[in-house]
Amino acid sequence: MNILILGSGGREHAFAKKISESEKISNLFVAPGNAGTDAIATNLSINPTDFNAVKKTVLENKIDMVVVGPEAPLVEGVHDFFLSDEALNKIPVIGPKKDGALLEGSKDFSKQFMEKHEIPTAKYKSFTSETLEEGKSFLETLQPPFVLKADGLAAGKGVLILDNIEEAKTELEEMLSNQKFGNASSTVVIEEFLDGIELSVFVLTDGKSYKVLPSAKDYKRIGEGDTGLNTGGMGAISPVPFANDEFLSKVEDRIIKPTVNGLQADGIDYRGFIFIGLMNVNGDPFVIEYNVRMGDPETEVVLPRIQSDLVDLFEGVANQTLKEKTYEVTDQTATTVMLVSGGYPEAYEKGKEITGYNEIEDSIVYHAGTTKNENKVVTSGGRVMAITSFGNTIEEALEKSYRNIDKISFDKMNFRKDIGFDLK
Ligand code: AMP
Ligand code: GLY
Repeated sequence: MNILILGSGGREHAFAKKISESEKISNLFVAPGNAGTDAIATNLSINPTDFNAVKKTVLENKIDMVVVGPEAPLVEGVHDFFLSDEALNKIPVIGPKKDGALLEGSKDFSKQFMEKHEIPTAKYKSFTSETLEEGKSFLETLQPPFVLKADGLAAGKGVLILDNIEEAKTELEEMLSNQKFGNASSTVVIEEFLDGIELSVFVLTDGKSYKVLPSAKDYKRIGEGDTGLNTGGMGAISPVPFANDEFLSKVEDRIIKPTVNGLQADGIDYRGFIFIGLMNVNGDPFVIEYNVRMGDPETEVVLPRIQSDLVDLFEGVANQTLKEKTYEVTDQTATTVMLVSGGYPEAYEKGKEITGYNEIEDSIVYHAGTTKNENKVVTSGGRVMAITSFGNTIEEALEKSYRNIDKISFDKMNFRKDIGFDLK
């Protein structure tokens, strides 16, 4: 099979590596990819949201399946585009259509979906500029901290958690009346604060049945001890020790089954990943958010633990035969530590030569923001590389990642030295 992966991060390098190990793969393409995918696949310099360019390359390279990494092409309807085009409509796309992608594309939609299907989540109400005053009154009825969420995609920045009621009212007004997050905040969800420990559970579904993928926890803040600005993710661990069988069976019964059944009942034919962000509140799971793709850097610990052929699972998704597919996961723990550019998540420099990563043997090096410049590999993004290791324990796996990170260097390289600090 010829497969095209859309995207360019560590997640997409992890997909590329896993897919390249499949017996079923003939030619693998990544658009646009990075220096890591370049070494194991053919990179195509195409923007994943330029659907006509995607079409052209799919036909030229006789692509048999498209795997979508990031949310933007899904929310913008890449799957629908394929289905409505005569030349493309037999080519499976792994990732939901626009209707399913709304689970991530609209917080208001996802809250309504959860309410309708009785899926546990924080209590909420949605407001627009016309109902701003009602929104302020609603805030008065809640206890701090106050959680304000822009309805649409806001590059991971659309959630505000505020301790002060006056500040919460001001921010609500900024979002609704002054378009703080552009159109994404023309509707705002205000919800109850959930106090607990976060983790994520991933599901692969063909719309009828599903496989529960390994759980993971990521570390979103830039600073040690979970302090400072939010990032795309600075490291991750899988499995999550507190997500034991009892907790995961609650997740499956109360959240995964009603989600997959709810999509079906609502006539949403969903084929792809569901990333469920959860809060464990005193042993009970609540949904914080849905994403319609895999997480980054969670993919860099989830996929390496899957021992089955990923392409075989994807064929199950495409043909709705996922139920028949074998699916195995290693018991070993995987940890990943993200190397980032100095200054990230604020302004940072690019084009720094990266050295030493080729000497690493007992960790996996996933490239994220890297590119080739002549024969050198240089930085091209805030998150540069994820160093994944296996171990019998979190400590053992992390020790390998950190030992190997010592061999890698680039100007102003930064990383968190405390990944997993709360779980050990
Ligand atoms: P989201 O984009 O919805 O994942 O929100 C970003 C982050 O805000 C989450 O990862 C949580 O850490 C936090 N968060 C979101 N909603 C809540 C909530 N209702 N209670 C507590 N924390 C929340
Ligand atoms: N690491 C969080 C995300 O991919 O959304």
